[in-house]
Amino acid sequence: EKDGYDWFMRKEIFEQPRAVADTLLGRHDENGALQLDEIRISEEELREVDKIIVIASGTSFYAGMVAKYAIEHWTRIACEVELASEFRYRDPILTRSTLVVAISQSGETADTLMAIRHAREQRAKVLAICNTNGSTIPRESDAVIYTHAGPEIGVASTKGFTTQLVACYLLGLYLAQVRGTRYGDEIAQVVDQIQHVPDKIQQVLDRAEEIYGLARRLADSRSVLFLGRHVGYPVALEGALKLKELAYIHAEGFAAGELKHGPIALVEDQLPVFCVVPPRGRDFLHDKMISGIQEVRARGARTIVLAEEGDAVVEPYADVLIRLPRVPTLLQPLLSVIPLQLFALELAAHKGLDVDQPRNLAKSVTVE
Ligand code: M6R
Repeated sequence: EKDGYDWFMRKEIFEQPRAVADTLLGRHDENGALQLDEIRISEEELREVDKIIVIASGTSFYAGMVAKYAIEHWTRIACEVELASEFRYRDPILTRSTLVVAISQSGETADTLMAIRHAREQRAKVLAICNTNGSTIPRESDAVIYTHAGPEIGVASTKGFTTQLVACYLLGLYLAQVRGTRYGDEIAQVVDQIQHVPDKIQQVLDRAEEIYGLARRLADSRSVLFLGRHVGYPVALEGALKLKELAYIHAEGFAAGELKHGPIALVEDQLPVFCVVPPRGRDFLHDKMISGIQEVRARGARTIVLAEEGDAVVEPYADVLIRLPRVPTLLQPLLSVIPLQLFALELAAHKGLDVDQPRNLAKSVTVE
């Protein structure tokens, strides 16, 4: 059932073009208008939502961090994101017009389940984004958007994550459509851009060998850093989590703008630092990221730079350059996470570790 792959995780990484396409399927019409009737929360109720709180754990939490940027941008509804394990033990401000979005691949994570119970007790509406039909979290939610990744067997989440991102984008765009904060053409344009993502993921996967080579060269690293900004920040956190859980290497993800507030002290000669560079837009993000890269290089770091095709500005600052096809900033995590997944996978495999079943971890964490 591994279809000729050595590890489920490798198979699941390579399934992502299909998984992302399936998660889009049937959710928009030919004009790009979204059809999410499955949400089962009336349009009237959705128009009344005045706050969104995304709750999740682990990798799903990082998908939630990306969701915050997209949802606030498209809908202008205030959106918070919180770890389920923290949310459930505090006294959050929830009302009937709060929409809680619970993201869980398995639908069985105890922390996330307890958090939605906590939210429902206070009459908030709960919408689940889940990959497992009929699991507990969607059953206990008011509504659900299923991701169509297919079963994810590897303990490390890969296609679970990218399909969660797609579901979050669809939710944000749908809310914008219902509430009128973005209009037909604009929504159709983003839907069209998402539809091209499977091919672009495939282009990144076609260059997997380059990443594998890099992973083998860096297999003896004792510590690796990941830097990003904006939606690249959760990608940095996800890259670090993958490396910790699979290869048991100390890894940290940071918001690049925070470097000077402390983490830069960690940088020493030859330290590998992955840098997720946002597309060159009209804003300052791209330039700010470049100055972050310069700061770590000046202290001897080896930089592995992920940047869009055609971005020549980054070239002098990259020891290794990984090219990403062009997409708008908000969608870039769908592409930038792929090399980080491949890197952690290959490094762990090279070290002879059990990629699908890392030590101390379970696929669904059904205990606190
Ligand atoms: O099934 P869930 O999405 O609720 O799981 C949440 C986390 O336990 C999960 O993402 C975990 O962090 C993975 N091992 C990450 O690869």
